[in-house]
Amino acid sequence: MNIPEQKPAFPYSAFPDGWYVAGFSSSLARGEVKRLTAHGQNWVLWRTESGRAFMSDAYCPHMGAHLGHGGKVRGEAIECPFHLFCFDGNGACVSTPYGTKVPPKAKLPMVPLEEKHGLLLAWFHSEGHAPHWQVPALDMTGWLPLATEEWVLETHPQETTENSVDLGHLPAVHGYRDVEILKPVEVHGPLLTTRYAVTRKGLPFITKDFRMEFTISVWGLGYSFVDVEVPAFRMKSRNFVLVSPIDGRHSYFRSAMTVSEDTDPKGLSPALAILPKALALRLVRAAAFRSYVADIKQDLDIWQTKRYVEPPALAVGDGPIGVYRRYCRQFYSELRPAAQSVAQAS
Ligand code: FES
Ligand SMILES: [Fe+2]
Repeated sequence: MNIPEQKPAFPYSAFPDGWYVAGFSSSLARGEVKRLTAHGQNWVLWRTESGRAFMSDAYCPHMGAHLGHGGKVRGEAIECPFHLFCFDGNGACVSTPYGTKVPPKAKLPMVPLEEKHGLLLAWFHSEGHAPHWQVPALDMTGWLPLATEEWVLETHPQETTENSVDLGHLPAVHGYRDVEILKPVEVHGPLLTTRYAVTRKGLPFITKDFRMEFTISVWGLGYSFVDVEVPAFRMKSRNFVLVSPIDGRHSYFRSAMTVSEDTDPKGLSPALAILPKALALRLVRAAAFRSYVADIKQDLDIWQTKRYVEPPALAVGDGPIGVYRRYCRQFYSELRPAAQSVAQAS
């Protein structure tokens, strides 16, 4: 009998603080209620009739019914299926079918939720603090709608996000060559940035190899934004890497991509010149996203089977793993210096 291997546990909290994607905006329609497990708890996402999205505890504070099993949006509130109490976007009970005074203790816990550039971003903090930093909103005018994909992986968000500074794996896993650092890694509070270039093999409709420049902005362990430029084709894309811990062992790994409408499809392939530009751009986005997803798939098995090594046995050429790991410490209450936790609390 084969006993399945057990993946060694990640040594720090499975639920680091920060902003994490609870879903794509396109996945939550007006009037819809959706169940979600995130950061070890059950929640519901719901969108009011006016279009505002909220995330709340799954369990009704009255007598514990699950709002994701029969709960309904009523105007700007959510109605529990059990005794029909309604709760607004602040979690306050606003009505009961009895017509009597609402119970003041019936308060539905809410998760801070921001909807930005097609993403539903939820704030989690192990000590319950309100958001003290924000993921910047991007203007998506002039960009195609997001192409999206998602997986459930047995991994931790710190492990997957480490990819963005792990220069050594780029040739080994992805076959990129001539990796060149254009701007060394910098840390500014919850933001880590770096910029590098690689040469990659052609895509199905691009026969020659081409140079790509990545400008990476890591905003905590759940949200990374990559500005990609391919100077030879005057092509620009925006890639999002979105990792949200679920239950202590698994995480949602979501990726999304859009392409700039300024991209000239003819520059990529003469075959695209005969098509209307809007259609050609969609084909470019589809092909670019396919190759991006293919790259991600090359990482999956390693992420899901690796163990976290601390300290790692680093060599010159590895990339700034140490800087990244020091940056990560701010997102764990157990690793933060006490002074930082006090500063955040005030
Ligand atoms: S349990 Fe929700 S209204 Fe009673
Ligand atoms: Fe990778």
